Amino acid sequence: MTEPAFRFRRLRDHAVLREMVAETSLERRRLVQPLFVKEGLTGRKPIESMPGQAQLSPEELLVEARRVHEAGVPAVLLFGLPRAKDAAGTSATSPEGVIPRSVAALKAALPDLAVIVDVCLCEYTDHGHCGVLREVAGLRPGVAGLRPGVAGRKTVDNDATCEQLAAMAIVAARAGADMVAPSDMMDGRVGAIRRALDAEGFGHMPIMSYAVKYASSFYGPFRDAAESAPKFGDRRGYQMDFRNSDEALREAAADVAEGADILLVKPALAYGDIIRRVKDRFGLPVAAYSTSGEYAMVEAAARMGWIQREPLIREILTGLRRAGADILITYWATEVAGQIR
Ligand code: PBG
Ligand code: ZN
Repeated sequence: MTEPAFRFRRLRDHAVLREMVAETSLERRRLVQPLFVKEGLTGRKPIESMPGQAQLSPEELLVEARRVHEAGVPAVLLFGLPRAKDAAGTSATSPEGVIPRSVAALKAALPDLAVIVDVCLCEYTDHGHCGVLREVAGLRPGVAGLRPGVAGRKTVDNDATCEQLAAMAIVAARAGADMVAPSDMMDGRVGAIRRALDAEGFGHMPIMSYAVKYASSFYGPFRDAAESAPKFGDRRGYQMDFRNSDEALREAAADVAEGADILLVKPALAYGDIIRRVKDRFGLPVAAYSTSGEYAMVEAAARMGWIQREPLIREILTGLRRAGADILITYWATEVAGQIR
């Protein structure tokens, strides 16, 4: 009989010691609950592809936010669905819009709940893209991006979009938001938003930048929830190619230089390597966005009886913590918070 050189099982096989040496844990203080508020809706409308999640009327938003807060979740991430959409996403910058009104109501009712506002135009444009469009010189048909035409092709106008996003951030700031989270993937938008906030007296307001956001099939259910699916083309002209990770560091470096306070990586589940590289390289707080598709996969498999739902959710979220995420944005936030001591 040969003695093993190492006996890892000594600590593993003792429940108390196993707890004592565990390296990572889930904590409520790190959780963010995304919520969808829809102008003109009454009550709540369940999102079919995201069982357990719903579009909320402005009144229901307050009810739901109170539940989130009481579960011990410190922050919500707000997505607004406006009554009216147009090509420029005009309603995104209205001070009377669904987001500023909701933020003001939330801060009045629950001042200790942090309100983070997603800054992007796709819920506000009639074409569903994350910015305003313009025609550029023709490229070969079939290149990634928007529909190629004879005269040229449409693409999202980067710099014009940045101006709109900055205006949207100001509106959120004036309404009392605690933080803004640009999710559009335009170049230079963190700088544009930072300068605008500073100029308007919001130098204290942090930016959580979707620094690394991939063009992903994990967003499908979200686009039902936010009614933000592009009417033509896809988002590969502005969101990242999932084959790339060096590029993630270049994206994050730009956002750090432009003044991002928190770096967000999205999706989360297949992107632990990216979370780790970004965390190690920059040492800034990193947020992982556990997307609608990750949520839907687990919920669907659970409904089939093929997986054990609660332990799997904890395993997924703990895995993101282990990868290096400080903040977990997850549709399970409120539920998980209720399970943590
Ligand atoms: C829009 C946005 C998306 C998500 C967050 N903000 C979808 C997209 O880019 O099409 C995805 C969230 C999720 O899937 O849970 N800018
Ligand atoms: Zn968008």
